[in-house]
Amino acid sequence: MGGSNPPVDATTTEAWATLRALADGFSPDLRAQLADREWVERSSLTAGDLFVDLSKNLVSPEIWRALRDLADQVGLAGRRDAMFAGEHINVTEDRAVLHTALRKPAGAVLEVDGADVVAGVHEVLQRMYGFADEVRSGAWRGATGERIRTVVNIGIGGSDLGPVMAYESLEPYVQDGLECRFISNIDPADTAVTLAGLDPATTLFIVASKTFGTLETLTNARLCREWLLDGLPGADRADAVKRHFVAVSTALDKVEAFGIDPANAFGFWDWVGGRYSVDSAIGLSLVIAIGPERFSELLAGFHAMDEHFRTADAEHNVPLLMGLLNVWYVNFLGAHTHAVLPYAQALHRFPAYLQQLTMESNGKGVRWDGTPVTSETGEVFWGEQGTNGQHAFYQLIHQGTRLIPADFIAVANPAHPLADGDTDVHELFLANFFAQTKALAFGKTADEVRAEGTAEELVPARVFTGNRPTTSIMAPALTPSVLGQLVALYEHITFVQGVVWGIDSFDQWGVELGKQLAQQVTPAVSGDESALAEQDASTQSLIRYYREHRRR
Ligand code: F6P
Repeated sequence: MGGSNPPVDATTTEAWATLRALADGFSPDLRAQLADREWVERSSLTAGDLFVDLSKNLVSPEIWRALRDLADQVGLAGRRDAMFAGEHINVTEDRAVLHTALRKPAGAVLEVDGADVVAGVHEVLQRMYGFADEVRSGAWRGATGERIRTVVNIGIGGSDLGPVMAYESLEPYVQDGLECRFISNIDPADTAVTLAGLDPATTLFIVASKTFGTLETLTNARLCREWLLDGLPGADRADAVKRHFVAVSTALDKVEAFGIDPANAFGFWDWVGGRYSVDSAIGLSLVIAIGPERFSELLAGFHAMDEHFRTADAEHNVPLLMGLLNVWYVNFLGAHTHAVLPYAQALHRFPAYLQQLTMESNGKGVRWDGTPVTSETGEVFWGEQGTNGQHAFYQLIHQGTRLIPADFIAVANPAHPLADGDTDVHELFLANFFAQTKALAFGKTADEVRAEGTAEELVPARVFTGNRPTTSIMAPALTPSVLGQLVALYEHITFVQGVVWGIDSFDQWGVELGKQLAQQVTPAVSGDESALAEQDASTQSLIRYYREHRRR
């Protein structure tokens, strides 16, 4: 199936009808299911370095078969191949979708619209690596001759969430004496707090913006430029900007207009979506922090998962199966949300990263041909690292009335092995990881509660129904490669769901209206009475409140 062919309406397929019939009267029994070793073995898959246990999900062999049939009947493999081949599957923007080309090895060839995109990717990578080496070695000097100690990435959305998530995840690989900070919000508190304590002479700014037109990023970049120039009073202004500002963008003309030396600008392409861009030049802060070698390992991890998704058969294809599972939960069992619970402190920004990836991609109400969707689409992704979440919201997952499928992620080897006396603290941590999915699956019956000697009137409150679905993902350690595999896994899960729903997972028109209205409201906020009079009554009253209470 090519890029712009109309989507197959999944709800009209035979597989959808079969799934509907299987869902009616479906009464899962995870206790029985998990007593079957063969089931557990068949549900335990590997993808690259990831070990994925799907056994604690509310499915059966018949459901799996019907889900795979659904993938066939909506033409999923064809659309996947169209994506990898660079067809314009981002229909509403008439663009190829080629984040997978960003991680192809040097020497691979992929011709798109008449040009080999892989060669271009590696040309930029080499420039990034060269620049990163200069900063890391101290060869790159600031305006006063000092070496760079802090890199501040200024960006928002995909130009922030990927770099910050990956930087936090790979903290053990960051070069000593170097630190990255991230400014994203147009709330001036973000810039003020992030810059606090920094020395302009040793600070390098990366302005990361695909479009170089994002209000938040350009405003923050100007604030940072003023802070820099104020802090380097003796320096030549143009030279200071040249030595302390670099940019990452697809709009290199706008970069130059900002005063950034084009020689210090790193480009990428319109076929890289913002939320799919961490492995493009948008990852420059990360390359500086962890170095080119580690960044190449990250890219290799992404590529390994791409190859798995592209070539593994349906029964063993982890992104395919996890994407289909999400469709099952959303469209047949009525799930509205999906929790992602990393048992790795370093992955604490991973759920936030996934929120943009999944919800900006699949939060759509029309299909790629402009017709309305025919089923529920994008579920809400959310989460927090374990064990913190256990003491906050797990109560609802264990005993609430809603179905919340959850992905648990953990690694065997800690980045920081610490002992509490004789106790390996990572083992204590992982015991929680193992215990939670077990508790969610098995629950605790009233008889089991009674057997503990619980007073009869307290029994109902202490019963756990169980049958709460989880997927466990494990890896040997949180290396750059494993991180790349994890991110690519979720990219492809998102893609699979989008194809089943017939939506363009690569545009984001839904964020435009708020941006337009912010521009329209700005004069009213600043005191223009006629602009205020044009607002609706509620907005007028809120702006009036602001104006009355703002102290100057
Ligand atoms: O929020 C919309 C969006 O376009 C995201 O998709 C993107 O990641 C973000 O804004 C930032 O855009 P840019 O990189 O062009 O500044």
